[in-house]
Amino acid sequence: MYRAAIIVASDSSSAGEREDLSGPAIAEIVRGYGNFTAGEPMVIPDEREKLARAMVRLADTEGFDLILTTGGTGFSKRDVTPEATLDVIERRAPGIPEAMRRISLEITPRAMLSRAEAGIRGGCLIVNLPGSPKAVRETLGYIMPSLEHGLDILQGRDSNCAR
Ligand code: MTE
Repeated sequence: MYRAAIIVASDSSSAGEREDLSGPAIAEIVRGYGNFTAGEPMVIPDEREKLARAMVRLADTEGFDLILTTGGTGFSKRDVTPEATLDVIERRAPGIPEAMRRISLEITPRAMLSRAEAGIRGGCLIVNLPGSPKAVRETLGYIMPSLEHGLDILQGRDSNCAR
């Protein structure tokens, strides 16, 4: 079983001003895959250091296999999730956000405004998802099977891509 952690980057949800719906949408989708469990979404304000610290703790101390973030990937001055992610990953995995943007561009040209990143820290894969529940549903199901295969390779459970 792979354990997934969910980080919601949102000033308004962390201040209790807006109910977060994206974190629960991620948890529901992840739990639909037999080999994954999903923790309760953790809501953090759009602050680079706080987000980076949370990712480090979830990856290094709590040993999560996958960290899915939602929100903070756009152009607002407060959108710093990609920067926090780049602060903590050791190796980038650009194909994952490229794939999300490709499939999302078929739905809305605004997908080109996503600055999402993904990468590897130790045995943990960190992936930025967009901020709305709609966008989460449009992207996460598409990437999940490949994330599982990536984790199999990252953690040495599978050494080839012949499937
Ligand atoms: N991707 C999908 N699949 N569907 C969407 O509606 N919205 C886009 C983009 N990606 C969208 C999407 C928009 S409008 C923005 S501004 C960026 O994601 C960044 O969103 P975020 O700041 O909520 O992370």
